Amino acid sequence: MAKTVKSPRWGWALTGSGHFVKETLAIIKQLSDLDLFLSSAAEEVLNMYKQDLVLPEGTRIYKDRTASAAPVGNFYYGVYHTLILGPATSNTVAKCVYGISDNLATNVFAQAGKCRVPAIVFACDTAPVMDTEAPKGMVKVYPRRIDLENTERLKTFEDTTVVETIDEFERAIDARRQWLSGSSS
Ligand SMILES: Cc1cc2nc3c(=O)[nH]c(=O)nc-3n(C[C@H](O)[C@H](O)[C@H](O)COP(=O)(O)O)c2cc1C
Repeated sequence: MAKTVKSPRWGWALTGSGHFVKETLAIIKQLSDLDLFLSSAAEEVLNMYKQDLVLPEGTRIYKDRTASAAPVGNFYYGVYHTLILGPATSNTVAKCVYGISDNLATNVFAQAGKCRVPAIVFACDTAPVMDTEAPKGMVKVYPRRIDLENTERLKTFEDTTVVETIDEFERAIDARRQWLSGSSS
């Protein structure tokens, strides 16, 4: 019989997005009991933005080094109470929407769904025109119709909350944290 996990953790998948990545890292720092999953692009992009991963003590980092996304097995043993996926690139959102799980980030999303672990997704592509931070400063980006449609499609997924702004992201995580502390008391 599977062991019951005493303190389930936050699972957080980072993708190769520069959009609000610095603000996202600031939110991550405030969480405890956290496992971080990095897509290969996430690793590269963090370097480009010169972002060192300064993480809460006890955080475990999983990099995308296996074809089978081996670390996702923990979802089956109740290790995670919540998956956070964000910022989520248009690539990752598209794959998630079509049920593709071919790297660590898309696998944790798929396995969270299959294990009924609620997910909060901060999608990058949310408006026809957006200001976003590139490594050398702010730029304008124009998400395509397919990108915006995929974000909308993801909103229809079960147990999935899709947020569109960094403020909404923070609020969704806070609301989940509050719900969790209520449910454990
Ligand atoms: C500096 C930099 C910033 C990027 N920011 C974004 C972004 O905000 N949104 C996005 O959809 N793709 C962005 N990309 C492109 C993704 O990293 C690329 O599509 C990658 O294949 C995504 O892989 P992943 O979804 O597996 O992480 C960026 C690329 C670079 C080099």
